[in-house]
Amino acid sequence: MHRRLSTRVLRALLASVLFSAAARSSQAQERDILSTLSTLSSVGRAAVQPASPFVIQPYLQLGDAPKAGKREQMALIWHTSDTDAVWSVETRPAGETGAKWSAQGGRPLFQQVAVAGVDAHRVWTAPLTDLKPGALTAYRVLKGDVPVFESTLLPRKASGQKQRVVVFGDCSVDSSAQRKIAYQTYLAKPDYVFITGDIVYNRGRISEYRSKYFPIYNADIASPASGAPLIRSTLFLAAPGNHDILHPDFDKAPDSLAYFLYWKQPMNGPTLAVGGPNVAPMTGPEVSQRAFLAAAGSAYPRMANYSFDYGDVHWTVLDADPYVNWNEPALRDWLRQDLEKAKGAKWRFVGFHQPGFNSSVEHFDEQQMRVVANLFEEGGVDLVFNGHVHNYQRTYPMRFATASGQTGKGRVNGVWTLDKDFDGVTKTKPSGVLYLVTGAGGADLYNPEQTTKPETWQPFTKKFVADVHSMTQVDIDGRRLTVKQISDDGKELDAFTVTK
Ligand SMILES: [Fe+2]
Repeated sequence: MHRRLSTRVLRALLASVLFSAAARSSQAQERDILSTLSTLSSVGRAAVQPASPFVIQPYLQLGDAPKAGKREQMALIWHTSDTDAVWSVETRPAGETGAKWSAQGGRPLFQQVAVAGVDAHRVWTAPLTDLKPGALTAYRVLKGDVPVFESTLLPRKASGQKQRVVVFGDCSVDSSAQRKIAYQTYLAKPDYVFITGDIVYNRGRISEYRSKYFPIYNADIASPASGAPLIRSTLFLAAPGNHDILHPDFDKAPDSLAYFLYWKQPMNGPTLAVGGPNVAPMTGPEVSQRAFLAAAGSAYPRMANYSFDYGDVHWTVLDADPYVNWNEPALRDWLRQDLEKAKGAKWRFVGFHQPGFNSSVEHFDEQQMRVVANLFEEGGVDLVFNGHVHNYQRTYPMRFATASGQTGKGRVNGVWTLDKDFDGVTKTKPSGVLYLVTGAGGADLYNPEQTTKPETWQPFTKKFVADVHSMTQVDIDGRRLTVKQISDDGKELDAFTVTK
């Protein structure tokens, strides 16, 4: 009998259920709607998709897990409306479609986000544990007993395993370039992705994450026109940039600072206090500030800096915004000790937003991070990844001696020593630190005219590509590291190798 129902009749049936459910409990409504949609689907004629149970579909985060373990852990996050439901997650080895699903023991917990300007919602975190390092794993999310989402995840790789990371920044503006870079990232099949800040424009707001970040990096279809289903199965990490956290104005933007609500990264940075030094002062109505603080919990402001290990790499992630004084002994001690403790890692990377060494006319005067160059050198840092400047730049391997009396504000004078023997092809052992600006992930490019004018570059700049959007692909195989800069249509713009 169902087979004779027209699409029109089926739509009417759905509408009537939706209408009659309006005065009932939300759980009963959802049961009825899902049951009706299931009936419609079984008829096989109606092109009606089940309503999504998510405000934001699941995405992977590292969680507060700075160190690798014999068995790995991750956090799976999703957002829902502010209603009760019982959620769970199950996993099984990927590719074994007949294998039994195993329940993940950790119960998903939620943090309510109830700030002005957006509907109250819940950010659910499911701790995933006992994962095999580097082993592709299938997972599914269940609401009640019903599987509502399925994908795969790649747990953090162990030391000794080859790894690929893609790095870009200055990205979520809802541009065609952003979608193309997301698609190129998808094609590169990275083990994880690092964003060098200015994750979401223009103010890192919840509403902006919903329109410019999640739809593109968690698109259902992979294409240069849509973005790609990345964050559901690939771990993303990020440094906060000025557009993410520099101007928390709760008058103009009560849904500010979404970085601290939606990212779950290690909580091992230097201790910072709300309203204290090295933290951007919040402005606007106190009630709005309190609503944010309640939702952010301990992540704010601590998660502005952190470090983590991934396979053979130790990453240190810093807040480079101008309110941070990296001349301050407590911050310098933390950075020095973090790098000292990572002496056993084969590679040491640092990621932050504002570059100390930049040849663009744009942002040229923001040199505050030069004051930690000597700590990078002492700590044996191999590569530094920055954004802020919307193009690609590579320095020679270099050392920098800060002149005395530099305040760390604006221009920072000093003397650099460049390793011009390193060519990244036949001479691959650098003397000094290599600094990359990779901020061409989607926002409008800066100073494209300088690309063909090397006379406008600073002496420390070896490569400068500002006339096309791009991303950085880094492959690590033991003591060999290969970097490729790839354009938004897949062309190789730069390549070099480092060995040790
Ligand atoms: Fe920026």
